[in-house]
Amino acid sequence: MTTDIDVVVCEVGLRDGLQSIEAFFPTEEKIAWIQAEAAAGVPAIEVTSFVPPRLIPQFADSQAVVQAALAIPGLRVDALVPNLKGAERGMELGVHSLDFVMSVSRTHNLKNVRREREDSIEEFRRIVAAVRQLPAGQRPRLVPGLGTALGCSYEGAIAVDEVVKCAVALAEAGADELMICDTVGYADPALVRKVFQAVRAEVGSLPLGAHFHDTRGLGLANVTAALDCGVRRFDASLAGLGGCQFAPGATGNIVMDDLCFLLDSMGLRTGVDLDKLVQVRQVIARNLPGVPLYGGLARSGLPRNYIPAAQRAA
Ligand code: COA
Ligand code: ZN
Repeated sequence: MTTDIDVVVCEVGLRDGLQSIEAFFPTEEKIAWIQAEAAAGVPAIEVTSFVPPRLIPQFADSQAVVQAALAIPGLRVDALVPNLKGAERGMELGVHSLDFVMSVSRTHNLKNVRREREDSIEEFRRIVAAVRQLPAGQRPRLVPGLGTALGCSYEGAIAVDEVVKCAVALAEAGADELMICDTVGYADPALVRKVFQAVRAEVGSLPLGAHFHDTRGLGLANVTAALDCGVRRFDASLAGLGGCQFAPGATGNIVMDDLCFLLDSMGLRTGVDLDKLVQVRQVIARNLPGVPLYGGLARSGLPRNYIPAAQRAA
């Protein structure tokens, strides 16, 4: 990752996008997707999920996918982990970030990871302890995600205090960064400001990232609200794949290509070549016929005489 980046974007389509798609996306095609998107300049990719393969067979090939991704120079390789067992699998392979998942909604946490929230936090402490057994230079970053932090399709609105409570517990337990996740796409820009400001007030300088779904078309509006709150890390998925089989009603993540265009057009450098990025959609299109691909940039192209942020005079 270069220092010429203002905002770090992380591709999550290979995890969030594929987890709800039953048809197996061939391993070599996952690797082709990762290689092409890294070549387009995307600095970080959540390449798989260390969940029981019985539960989500799509990720039965996580080892091969991670190994291929780790061979790409400069790419930050992330993986989702729901428990210590998943974290151990990730550590063994040497992933760069362990994205631990828990939900602020008690009901969703029970459905998704079959645990009370307190037990998820306790599990995260065990993961921190395991990571700290590794020599300092070999420890993955620990990035818990607070799912359903902006609303839940089981419980509806989620109290901001509950989000703050979970965030503080994870921060105190040893998180290197926190992702605040609108798992089902309930957020609006005003709520985003409220939640991010409330969490920021309690976690000091800990970096915060945002993970938005575009279920009701407010995804990029939510990004601009998070930017105003100082957030400089965003998850997104190419062509807007995504969803969660344990969270009814959730549709895809915000569209990576449109996110990069939004940021770039605002003068925020992402390191991504927009033309190259749009080309990578072909890997998805050829493997998922019939699955809708979203995105305004892919549909309409760049504006005439568009000058990328990195080439504009300061
Ligand atoms: N990777 C591989 N195997 C795992 C595992 C992991 N991360 N975690 C548990 N297992 C295995 C156990 O070893 C055990 O195997 P066994 O039956 O051969 O002994 C089996 O799975 C059951 O283990 P248990 O600890 O009882 O798990 P569980 O059935 O209570 O499931 C989770 C808990 C967290 C593993 C499961 O709910 C999960 O993976 N949830 C994540 C769902 C998800 O990905 N949602 C979308 C992301 S937001
Ligand atoms: Zn998601």
